[in-house]
Amino acid sequence: MAAPKTRSAAKRPTRTSTASARASTASARASTASAAPAVPAWHVAPDRTKAWKRLTALARKGRSMDLRKAFAKDRTRGTAFSTEALGIHLDYSKNLIDRATMDALFALAAECGVEKHRKAMFAGEAINLTENRAVLHVALRAPKGAVIKVDGRNIVPDVHEVLGRMERFADAVRSGRWRGHTGKRIRTVVNIGIGGSDLGPVMAYEALKDFSERAIECRYVSNIDGEDFYEKTRDLDPAETLFVVSSKTFTTIETMTNAQTARAWALKCLKSPAAVAKHFVAVSTNAAEVAKFGIDTDNMFGFWDWVGGRYSMDSAIGLSTMVAIGPANFRELLAGFHDMDEHFRTAPARRNLPFLLALIGLWNRDFLGCETVAVLPYCQYLHRLSAYLQQLEMESNGKRVQLDGTPCRWQTSPVIWGEPGTNGQHAFYQMIHQGTSPVPCDLIAFAQPLHAVGSKEGGEHHDILLANILAQGEALAFGKTPAEVRAEGTPAWLVPHRTFPGNRPTNTMLIERLSPRMLGRIIALYEHKVFVQGSIWRVNSFDQWGVELGKVLAKRIIPELSGTAPSRAAHDSSTNALIARYRAWRGR
Ligand code: F6P
Repeated sequence: MAAPKTRSAAKRPTRTSTASARASTASARASTASAAPAVPAWHVAPDRTKAWKRLTALARKGRSMDLRKAFAKDRTRGTAFSTEALGIHLDYSKNLIDRATMDALFALAAECGVEKHRKAMFAGEAINLTENRAVLHVALRAPKGAVIKVDGRNIVPDVHEVLGRMERFADAVRSGRWRGHTGKRIRTVVNIGIGGSDLGPVMAYEALKDFSERAIECRYVSNIDGEDFYEKTRDLDPAETLFVVSSKTFTTIETMTNAQTARAWALKCLKSPAAVAKHFVAVSTNAAEVAKFGIDTDNMFGFWDWVGGRYSMDSAIGLSTMVAIGPANFRELLAGFHDMDEHFRTAPARRNLPFLLALIGLWNRDFLGCETVAVLPYCQYLHRLSAYLQQLEMESNGKRVQLDGTPCRWQTSPVIWGEPGTNGQHAFYQMIHQGTSPVPCDLIAFAQPLHAVGSKEGGEHHDILLANILAQGEALAFGKTPAEVRAEGTPAWLVPHRTFPGNRPTNTMLIERLSPRMLGRIIALYEHKVFVQGSIWRVNSFDQWGVELGKVLAKRIIPELSGTAPSRAAHDSSTNALIARYRAWRGR
């Protein structure tokens, strides 16, 4: 592997080691420097580039583009605007693009210094400027012999040391060597975490269920709503249950509250505080808080502040994933991530999957004015993919100021949403086909089913599934003209209702087969897509200050609701009235 040797960064991230993951008490930590960090000169604002101006001019043509005509005019369009790498065939030909658009988009990436930014990330530079941190999720999947330095020190051995500990633990749980306090085997692993400490593990558990040890079930408690904890534990035997408390900071109120509840729930049955050691492990960067909670740090799996929460599913945060699918499959998952890292790092932009997805997305967002993107996997195993991508994309690039603090003069993250096909077809596709707002879609399908269910005569399920995804791409692109509708004998008054405008942009990703390795490739593809877009939008894709205010206000309101503090009517008239109503209904 050719992991880049790095030079020491000018702004050095905090160094942490496996054994001594440093405590961090705040969920987000600002750089302590009083002066704003310098934004590299090559990090050019997109609207200052020649390419942006060219794209603005091209957008007029793009908005009125007719895909029927484009395909008729260029018989090679389907293959010309397709590429394939690592078993992923990406067809982006059904977007409102032409060669000039693509040339300008690649020029935009070049003018905005995306390649330099990418190099800086892989080199461990502190590109997370507002938190003065390196961004090195790519180190989590670097092979053993790789060298990636932070502050002059190779961090890859630390990563592999934690992986080794995770493997020994996962093997012990899976084999039954790890026993609960009363000597029973562990039957259920309950991950307690939220956001990046939940969405990735849930998504991966669901995606890779077919590769999992079915004798051990994983469940995920995230919501502060007690109903989540209640429902996930109501039928469990504490003697057979292992809790993985996952929190980068170990201060997140939802996770800490659920973890306290879990401890009380377990000890109510198991009686002795000694049971905690057999039924609770922690995944965190904050050893001090883990110890304070009462979990032996021997039962803690660390990671580092250079891993963002939403980029952490392949760190120790993936412990429940590893217990489910086993260490060998988890290594495959990491290898898949690494495959895509290398592709992203080395493939020319025109054949680089993350570049292509990012540039097409940016075209749709900034030049064609699309406000949302639907991610539509035609694969039931991927039913949590869009929820996962919501955090990845929207928490990363949902920003309104540039790296230097000045406002963005362009649009940033679209809304990401979606559900698996074909279910969505019978729910919201109506709007995608005939609504007033175009919704670009990522259509994702696997050529090989994991289970070829159904007889050939009756139609194999998978063929029907694939026929549907292809049909949707066709229908969205080419629609149905009023003349075609009339030719079917439709009465004139009904023609507008039955007309499909077409020209609705889609990417189709046809992928060989779902496997742990392929899942790693897919997730890394989206991670790097987000990187390229954030880089061009000139935002910090690696902080999340926007989640702070609500947390602070909620802390202030909690005692007013619970009645431990008088309702001070200190809020606005709307919030005051809602607090009063709540207290009245709760008899407080
Ligand atoms: O509130 C947002 C957030 O900070 C996310 O970025 C993060 O993934 C999530 O909360 C959970 O944080 P932690 O892992 O520290 O509990």
